[in-house]
Amino acid sequence: MSVFPAVKISDHVYWVGAIDWTIRDFHGYRTGQGSTYNAYLVLADTVTLIDTVKKPFCEEMLARVASVIDPARIDCIVSNHSEMDHSGGLPEVIAAVKPERVYASAMGKKTLDDHFGIGDLIHVVKSGDSIDLGSMTLEFLETRMLHWPDSMFTYCVEEKVLFSQDAFGMHLATAERFADEIEPSILEYEAATYYANILLPYSNLISKLAETLSQSPWKPEIIAPDHGPVWRKDLDTIIGHYTDWALQRPSRKAVIVYDTMWHSTERMARAIAEGTASRGVDVKIMPASAVHRSDVAYEILDAGALLAGSPTLNNNLFPSMADVLTYLKGLKPQNLIGAAFGSYGWSGESVKQIEEVLTAMKVSLVGESIACLYAPDQEMLDRCFCLGVTVGDELVKRCDA
Ligand code: FEO
Repeated sequence: MSVFPAVKISDHVYWVGAIDWTIRDFHGYRTGQGSTYNAYLVLADTVTLIDTVKKPFCEEMLARVASVIDPARIDCIVSNHSEMDHSGGLPEVIAAVKPERVYASAMGKKTLDDHFGIGDLIHVVKSGDSIDLGSMTLEFLETRMLHWPDSMFTYCVEEKVLFSQDAFGMHLATAERFADEIEPSILEYEAATYYANILLPYSNLISKLAETLSQSPWKPEIIAPDHGPVWRKDLDTIIGHYTDWALQRPSRKAVIVYDTMWHSTERMARAIAEGTASRGVDVKIMPASAVHRSDVAYEILDAGALLAGSPTLNNNLFPSMADVLTYLKGLKPQNLIGAAFGSYGWSGESVKQIEEVLTAMKVSLVGESIACLYAPDQEMLDRCFCLGVTVGDELVKRCDA
């Protein structure tokens, strides 16, 4: 009996990854449901391991391999992605199994060499290359910047399994290994959150990738990502979500993110929200002190407007707002309109600073930003309501165009 069994995902392919039930932060993204680091064993004549796991989980991965074959029988390793959650365990695995070959993209070779000094062991493969495993064939497609410059897909022709590394994954630790065993609403939420927080900046590349895959001779029946469950049914659903998310079409949804010192900016946010909602727009108010930056990223994924409010603290944005806006700026959401608002006591830099960030994000500013001295009176709240109306009207116009 094995404490850590492998899970068969096709006739000759096994999941041999690790489940991380405890991780709650993945480079700034809150992973409230943990994650998995998926590795796969291809039992061809040439036994091949696709990716490894985060370093502390190496023992678990090798135990799962051992539940199927002696790990020393692994002949080849393919590193689809050299980020540490997939390659952290690679040096240890190489030392343990002494594979004949390790394959990676050219950038993968460089990254693995930069991290571990193992470049000499790596054989470079590129898009269109294939390797003959005797009874099976692996083909490769470079997917640069999804999610690092080294990333690539590997396709097992005979088993029709696409090893997609970060793409089509999610941070979700579960006992179930297949997506069809998990509640669809959970899958959609976790996949969307993952896309928003990891892949959003590369949406243009994902649109191109979706087109490449649709024209490819590859006809996968299983998608095996490096995080979360394996897709073996309704592959069009997750591919369709990626196609939609990558387009970032504006919808009638506005996200208002703010923080507040003495409730003035909060009252402004609520008045703006009433104005926006009065135009038939779905409004999501997100107090930065009560939500996580990755929750805001999730809400932005299908929004058409981003409104940001902050008091001025020591000539700057409130720290929680600087955090959220810096994070969102890095994710490069597209096709948003927006507005800036906030309260101040004397110097009042925050609203200007929000405008600068939104402009750098290519958010199209609508209406006039509002800076409120100390606390809003009725006239100020009316102005806020009117700004909300202006944003709502413009959003509806854009969505109907
Ligand atoms: Fe799951 Fe980009 O690493």
